[in-house]
Amino acid sequence: MSMKQILIGLTSAALLSLSMAVQAAPIKLKFSHVVAENTPKGQMAIKFKELVAERLKGKVEVEVFPNGQLFGDNKVLEALLLGDVQLASPSLSKFKKYTKKLQIFDLPFLFNDMAAAEKFQQSEAGQSLLKTVEKKGLIGLGYMHNGMKQMSASKPLHVPADAKGLKFRIMSSDVLAAQFEAVGATPLKKPYSEVFTLLQTKAIDGQENTWSNIRSKKFYEVQDNITSSDHGLLDYMVVTSAEFWNGLPADIRTELKKALDEAVALGNKVAAEKSQSDKQAIIDSKRTKVIELTKEERQQWVDMMKPVWKKFEPIVGKDLLDAAISANK
Ligand code: SIN
Repeated sequence: MSMKQILIGLTSAALLSLSMAVQAAPIKLKFSHVVAENTPKGQMAIKFKELVAERLKGKVEVEVFPNGQLFGDNKVLEALLLGDVQLASPSLSKFKKYTKKLQIFDLPFLFNDMAAAEKFQQSEAGQSLLKTVEKKGLIGLGYMHNGMKQMSASKPLHVPADAKGLKFRIMSSDVLAAQFEAVGATPLKKPYSEVFTLLQTKAIDGQENTWSNIRSKKFYEVQDNITSSDHGLLDYMVVTSAEFWNGLPADIRTELKKALDEAVALGNKVAAEKSQSDKQAIIDSKRTKVIELTKEERQQWVDMMKPVWKKFEPIVGKDLLDAAISANK
């Protein structure tokens, strides 16, 4: 064998092993979210990572970045489109730049309970909303629950007049802004990562959130009062980018979706449990006062906040609104 033949042989072998190494490199999937790990979404993300590690070992590697370590919710959708992360699940209140239709979920007192929210999300109308982000290059892979929101403040909130003149942090949603304006309060759109400090330093007077977020981020330690109001919904859409998702081999895409659905089911179970247990833990902590509204007091909030629906009906559409209302039956 000539030297030339030996060299050609060696080069081909090197190229072959290089291409095998390239082929074998696992697909990296970064999942970025803003909440703590001991929350419904935090648990869902961990479960997804575990299922993928079990079922797609060596093919896909999931890395989870909780607590806004990588991106806040104001940046994560942009990051998805740039390919800096591959999975996120912002609250439905944070999609305004991508679709206005999801604002329906922010309407105060729209759903009587989580069963109604679930029924609407799984209905044809609810599923069609997942597609509204597609024209922006995103793919809505499904919904996930957190739960009903409660209002916390430095002073007791029994009736809407108690909120007058107070500053409330809200997510970046015009519906939520209108909801607090309707009771004479001042809404301030701020990132989730800033809420604790804003409350602690009294730069704001209050905020609205679920029991699991209020507990995991210790908002109850810096708010003297929490009104058990169940006045609105905080749920999520799990999203990816069309470029990433459609570029995956079909079998991997199927497995990922299956793992995600199972992780979401677990997250929803955690959400249901935590809406009770985190509320109780906050009551037991005695760091704050949890206010239960009388029927008459609650009705006052409904009467003041519900007119907001009229303003947003032309944006979300009457048919969609009717479909959401009928989920309460
Ligand atoms: C979240 O649950 O993802 C954050 C909610 C918020 O911004 O208040």
